[in-house]
Amino acid sequence: MNQRPRRLRSSAVIRNLVAETTLSANDFLVPLFIEHGKHSKSEIHSMPGYYRFSLDEILNEIEEHVKVGLKSFLLFVKENDDFKDNDGTAAANPNGLMQMAIHKIKSQFPDIILMSDVALDPYSTFGHDGIVENNEIVNDKTNIALAAMAVSHANAGVDWVAPSDMMDGRVAAIRKALDDNGFSNCGIMAYSAKYASCFYGPFRDALDSAPGFGDKKTYQMNPANVKEGVFEAQLDLAEGADMVMVKPAGAYLDVIKAVKEIATKPVSAYQVSGEYAMIKAAAAKGWVNEDAAIIESLTAIKRAGADVIATYFAKTAVNLINKS
Ligand code: PBG
Repeated sequence: MNQRPRRLRSSAVIRNLVAETTLSANDFLVPLFIEHGKHSKSEIHSMPGYYRFSLDEILNEIEEHVKVGLKSFLLFVKENDDFKDNDGTAAANPNGLMQMAIHKIKSQFPDIILMSDVALDPYSTFGHDGIVENNEIVNDKTNIALAAMAVSHANAGVDWVAPSDMMDGRVAAIRKALDDNGFSNCGIMAYSAKYASCFYGPFRDALDSAPGFGDKKTYQMNPANVKEGVFEAQLDLAEGADMVMVKPAGAYLDVIKAVKEIATKPVSAYQVSGEYAMIKAAAAKGWVNEDAAIIESLTAIKRAGADVIATYFAKTAVNLINKS
């Protein structure tokens, strides 16, 4: 035998020396959930070990992340029902929970990268990402609302906005509105290939944002399609996106790879709430090793081509990487 591939696997040191893919704190984007109230920290029922925090508590949580080297965050808010309407008016309220959170966090941590979710669902009585008329999600009117929402986040000091709504043309609308209002330095991470996935279930629990009627299949993509995901990413890049995203991640590694091949900007992938919940649930039953499942799933997402990974396991993963 003149080929013995096992030589390259014979010890941990050689395996690490020749690893094609490695993870570090710089790879991760940390999703954070904000809720109203004081001194509150609520565990999300279907995401054991993950919490929503009130504004005072979120600062400590960010501090914990910064200590281990995690410096990029993606904010979501849970809005009360009395603030919701069909137009998602509260989304652009300069004194809204998101805007206050952005302001407070950036004042305390000026050097982190702070991104905010841009979509109407947490503010919509219908739980849809856009404005509803005659049981349809209307595209162009929604874009106007999303652009106003993005400008209000930029005004509060956010570094990047992350439109997760999947309306056509929203990146161009948001880019123009940001530039017209003096926010040319605010970046856009576009959820470009976002699929209509069952794996968002726990997230909708977290924000009480499940669609009140129908589903999201007229705007989020059909899981059967990969070319369409590539096309969405191309459109978003042409419209001015600084980063494109594939979501979910684990079941869409082929899409990550296909988008990475054409993208001239960084590609992110979102290991979503259902991916977190599955690992947690199986580990709680003793059916998979939690730590190993976390590292293996994240390594696979990076191997497929993700430059940035949004994951609820970020802090745990960094602690595991530092130990290994
Ligand atoms: C809302 C939004 C969703 C997620 C991120 N932004 C849910 C949805 O589209 O219904 C999902 C994140 C997750 O499941 O972790 N626009």
